[in-house]
Amino acid sequence: MTAVTRSSSASTSPQGLTFPTGFRWGAATAAYQIEGSTTVDGRGPSIWDTFVTQPGAIAGGHTGEQACDHFRRYPDDVRLMAELGLPCYRFSIAWPRVQPDGRTTSSAGLAFYDRLVDQLLDHGIEPIATLYHWDLPQALEDAGGWPARDTALRFADYAQTVHQVLGDRVVDWTTVNEPFCSAYFGYGTGIHAPGIRDEAAALRAAHHLLLAHGLGTRALRAAASGDLRVGIVFNFGSILIARDEPEYREAARKVDGLQNRLFLDPVLGAGYPQDVLDDIAHLEALEPAIRSDDLDVIAAPIDQIGINFYGPSRYAPTGDPGERGTCDMPGVRGVDTLPPQGPLTGFGWEQDSDSLTDLLLAVSERTDLPLVVAENGAAFADEVSGDRVHDAERTRYLAEHIRAVHRALQRGADVRGYLVWSLMDNFEWAMGFTQRFGIVHVDFATQRRRIKDSGLMFSEVARSNMLPASVASPDDGYRRRPLVDPDRWGLIALG
Ligand code: FCB
Repeated sequence: MTAVTRSSSASTSPQGLTFPTGFRWGAATAAYQIEGSTTVDGRGPSIWDTFVTQPGAIAGGHTGEQACDHFRRYPDDVRLMAELGLPCYRFSIAWPRVQPDGRTTSSAGLAFYDRLVDQLLDHGIEPIATLYHWDLPQALEDAGGWPARDTALRFADYAQTVHQVLGDRVVDWTTVNEPFCSAYFGYGTGIHAPGIRDEAAALRAAHHLLLAHGLGTRALRAAASGDLRVGIVFNFGSILIARDEPEYREAARKVDGLQNRLFLDPVLGAGYPQDVLDDIAHLEALEPAIRSDDLDVIAAPIDQIGINFYGPSRYAPTGDPGERGTCDMPGVRGVDTLPPQGPLTGFGWEQDSDSLTDLLLAVSERTDLPLVVAENGAAFADEVSGDRVHDAERTRYLAEHIRAVHRALQRGADVRGYLVWSLMDNFEWAMGFTQRFGIVHVDFATQRRRIKDSGLMFSEVARSNMLPASVASPDDGYRRRPLVDPDRWGLIALG
């Protein structure tokens, strides 16, 4: 572990918390969650188009067929971002628009992103492009999906194809968003597309998603002649355990291994962690999938790491059932999930901004790479009153988490940006339209957009590069969570 020693230019004044010059503020979305127009211009079906038709897969039977109709309304949506004064916008590219069958390029599909990028740049908004945010072309799923190695090779080809068209204007690229979710939810628990329940397939998928990241990074570097920033976005787990006892530490080790280290270590060039390989050896899935230079490919140099953070999770060794659930990460046995502790978001996720500071510091102790909070936000049941949406809880959540980033900066973490999830309410995967994360409200019947109070607050922060003291007091009593504290739980981990 390296100690965090970097100095930071984040500062505190009676007016508020000032962020370093050039700190990047923005909002994030993903293609399937907002675009709609799923068959226009020859777009092929993705695994999500297929999955949403399975009875019971999505709350309310909702689909992304229309979503926010962003495909048609993107000029207005970009104007809205400009009105909010957002300097950056993280969006994802739908692979099945660019390569409807996963192989053949559609110039009509690519043209949409060409127009979007131009529109962003015309409004002075910096594009941050994510190549894979979960919408695999169905044709590639039919050929084996992420458990099949060829999908990673296809991804490299796709990355190069997109870069050919957008690379003259897009500097910032994310290869893969949250490989953990794609692999484990898509192929392990089956709660996400393609809905497969097979632990071994989930682990092979994880390896091939990482391989796709490495191959995609190489492809982008080979294609780029100018500025290029490449990264990957992880949803690391902030793991909380209640007791400093060997069984609790063992439970945390397993979860940290499968959610954090299995993804971070190989990207940082340290290979897969041996203890995790041992834990999952009985599935005979991951190690047989690794070919000779895969780990070099996965360790392709990158420029930054994106971190998506929503809240911490609590674990314990298997015990009395009660309110407990079973941790269902592939190959994990003997670990329970415990209920979140209040306050909770509307989704039922635990609100704890200290965990974000802890996590950013923990990752900083593993790498000198710059970090970006690539997603952070909260769903609440919003109420519209006339033209306004007074979302006090989301406003507070965002302010507290922005303050958490500032704390991490002041303690030396090299955090370069903060992107709110999400620009607007959208199709929240298995939860359909039941969970609203936007700083802009969307009336899905009329597609009317209304800026929420949280959007006004975030706009002020982005414009001033400062979190005003009126929104979040700088004096917050934060102290780094100790490894395990009987009064407070503890451990965020990553090694
Ligand atoms: C993340 C996803 C994003 C969104 C948020 C709430 O895991 O990357 O698309 O659904 O959760």
